[in-house]
Amino acid sequence: MQKTILVTGGLGFIGSHTVVALQEAGYEVVIVDNLSNSFAFVLDGIRAITGILPRFYEGDCNDRDFMQQVFSKEKVEGVIHFAAYKAVGESVAHPLKYYHNNLVSLIVLLELMQQYGVANLVFSSSCTVYGQPEHLPVDESAPILPAQSPYGNTKQVCEEIIRDSVQAGMPVKALALRYFNPIGAHPSAHIGELPIGVPNNLVPYITQTAAGIRPELSIFGKDYNTPDGTCIRDFIHVMDLAEAHVKALDYLLRQDAPSLYDYVNIGTGKGHSVLEVVQTFEQVNGIKLPYKFAPRRPGDVEQIYAKADKAKQMLGWQARRSLDEALRDAWQWQKALKEKGILEKMQKAEANS
Ligand code: WQD
Repeated sequence: MQKTILVTGGLGFIGSHTVVALQEAGYEVVIVDNLSNSFAFVLDGIRAITGILPRFYEGDCNDRDFMQQVFSKEKVEGVIHFAAYKAVGESVAHPLKYYHNNLVSLIVLLELMQQYGVANLVFSSSCTVYGQPEHLPVDESAPILPAQSPYGNTKQVCEEIIRDSVQAGMPVKALALRYFNPIGAHPSAHIGELPIGVPNNLVPYITQTAAGIRPELSIFGKDYNTPDGTCIRDFIHVMDLAEAHVKALDYLLRQDAPSLYDYVNIGTGKGHSVLEVVQTFEQVNGIKLPYKFAPRRPGDVEQIYAKADKAKQMLGWQARRSLDEALRDAWQWQKALKEKGILEKMQKAEANS
């Protein structure tokens, strides 16, 4: 009998790739998404890859009545919770929007999981909880430094909400996955990143510049204390990240304990600089990218990349795909957006946003 997994935010960038990985691992998937930062046509992309159309409920994780309906209709073994706002800069401008959405959606979810006896939770956390680590690569024992943004703080507080609930005896087995920088797209180019408006993140900005949508890339900061003066990050292929969620779920389903809480870095363990990413993109795709060096972006940490040993030992997972592959897949997806006419849908959404 297939186990059913509820994926909140399952039409988003990481969510949709995780749905594909879950279906390929034999799980039945139910998606909840309010389409505030995603599109229903992503369902077609998922079906184009796996041949399976996930059941989809459009609604908001903050809406308890709506979520109660989902839990009463679906016999769920576990939940992967992606649904959250995630733009660092926007969170500084609109902190209450972020605290309300990101915290209340988790609280509603945990209360309903307890009510319906759903015992497994994988939570989408972020390396942003580490701030600028003292030591690199950063491992899970590193101190949680004061968040650099309300977005980062919501991730820290959500981890604490789960930890405290488990410590108070809530019968749930929970893993917080601390992502590094997800990039790329499914190699089929049926799904990928769909940033609405001007992309905040590096790689979608690169691919949109290469596609002529943006005139040139600004590299924020060339005076950091790094080999080439630009920031360093741990860029992980989104399919590697997706597969880590399946391994995390498998791990939880194997545990006999009535409850547990743990957290795990999900990164490649390698750091690459912004300039290296630009140059690698140019090389693997045979494109000259227009870029300039610009002042530092407030809130950026200088460098961070993962110690990824715990995920390997605990989950039997490690990143398998290269930076080259991720940047090739990202570019294939950007080109597919135009060919499939999705770009027009995106630009209409941007005009309406
Ligand atoms: C990476 C580097 C920029 C854009 C954030 C969140 C993290 C996660 C991923 C949600 C930085 C530089 C970027 C550009 C640039 N978000 N850059 N020009 O900030 O490491 O992580 O997004 O889960 O939680 O903190 O990712 O891609 O925005 O930036 O030079 O046009 O690229 O300065 O050094 P970041 P990013």
